Amino acid sequence: MSKKFKTILALESSCDETAAAVIEGNPRSEGYPRIRSNIVASQTTIHSRHGGVIPEVAARNHVPVIIPCVKLALKQAGKELKNVDLIAVTQGPGLITSLMVGVQTAKTLGIALDIPVVPINHLEAHIYSNFAGKIQKSKFKNQIFPALILIVSGGHTLLVIMKGHGNFKIVGETLDDAAGEAFDKSAKILGLGYPGGPRISALAKKGNPKTFDFPRPMIKSNNLSFSFSGLKTAVLYTVQNIARSSKKLDNKTRKNLAASVQQAIVDVLISKTEQAIKKFHPRTIMLGGGVSANELLRKNFKLLGEKHRIRSVVPDPEFATDNAGMIGLAAYYRYKNKKIKVKNFEADPNLKLVQETSWHRGEKAFASPTAMPM
Ligand code: KG4
Ligand code: ZN
Repeated sequence: MSKKFKTILALESSCDETAAAVIEGNPRSEGYPRIRSNIVASQTTIHSRHGGVIPEVAARNHVPVIIPCVKLALKQAGKELKNVDLIAVTQGPGLITSLMVGVQTAKTLGIALDIPVVPINHLEAHIYSNFAGKIQKSKFKNQIFPALILIVSGGHTLLVIMKGHGNFKIVGETLDDAAGEAFDKSAKILGLGYPGGPRISALAKKGNPKTFDFPRPMIKSNNLSFSFSGLKTAVLYTVQNIARSSKKLDNKTRKNLAASVQQAIVDVLISKTEQAIKKFHPRTIMLGGGVSANELLRKNFKLLGEKHRIRSVVPDPEFATDNAGMIGLAAYYRYKNKKIKVKNFEADPNLKLVQETSWHRGEKAFASPTAMPM
């Protein structure tokens, strides 16, 4: 293929967001990829009725929406299907039936268009949400690595050292609940419904974080493990005590509870990231995953970078929660850096980030009816 600029169509359907994006770039140049469109169809209203994501409902609702998302993403990018050189899709981790909708759609398009399909790890993509332009335009673009990344999503809390593109090592992980889960479960206990994170953070703005002294689990432990399940229990007991007492769970108390929970979660995340900075001396710190949309976390993360005189990067809010732009970015950097072997793949709900570390040695797969056109 002689065309310099490659067009990537990216799909994401790992949980309750159906997303499609178009990314364009010249992998052989020093330039950076441009995100031409980034369409997200959220199922939040559907799942908020049930207080959380119901996997079967999520999968069914991806089906009628995914092709319209693709059409809209292409239209906004000023492209047609025939212009697409590569399809990228989330392989995992996530909800199996939801993942299958994206993977099967991608494979079908790949066969129809006779172009390769690349499986992308959702967690790797959250890392790449930091590469949506800004960092690549900066004068520091060649001084990013080693980077320390805090990934905080609904299902994962990870500290990752990234030595270069495709070179990841998990150095810290949660032993039980993820940070996003701590937000979601606390929100449920407070009667705030789903999705919990944004609701807690909105309410917290008007509350006093010092009102309730919630535990900061493992904050003092001399390792990079997280644990958030105790925090949720503490919130539950506090709310039960309030209910038993003469006091009511009024709006003011809810705001103070939200602010106090948020502060406890953010304190733990920042403290563990600081421990990792001291241990690994990264050049850059980055945030990824839905919880990276949290304003307090973003603010404290930047302050942490300043304190240690390290560059800090946070994804633009558009790329913080699940989206396909980040899937396309991850695919672009694979495309740019690697030798590719053609191999089939299936959706994998338990896909690990470490499983993917080998891609930079050219061992990972593309499903394709043709050889990789590079
Ligand atoms: O990455 P993501 O969109 O989906 C997964 O891969 O899980 O992350 C979703 C998580 C949910 O737990 C949600 O409550 C949380 O991100 N979240 C937030 C905020 N926005 C989303 N948590 C705290 N503050 C927010 N503003
Ligand atoms: Zn995610």
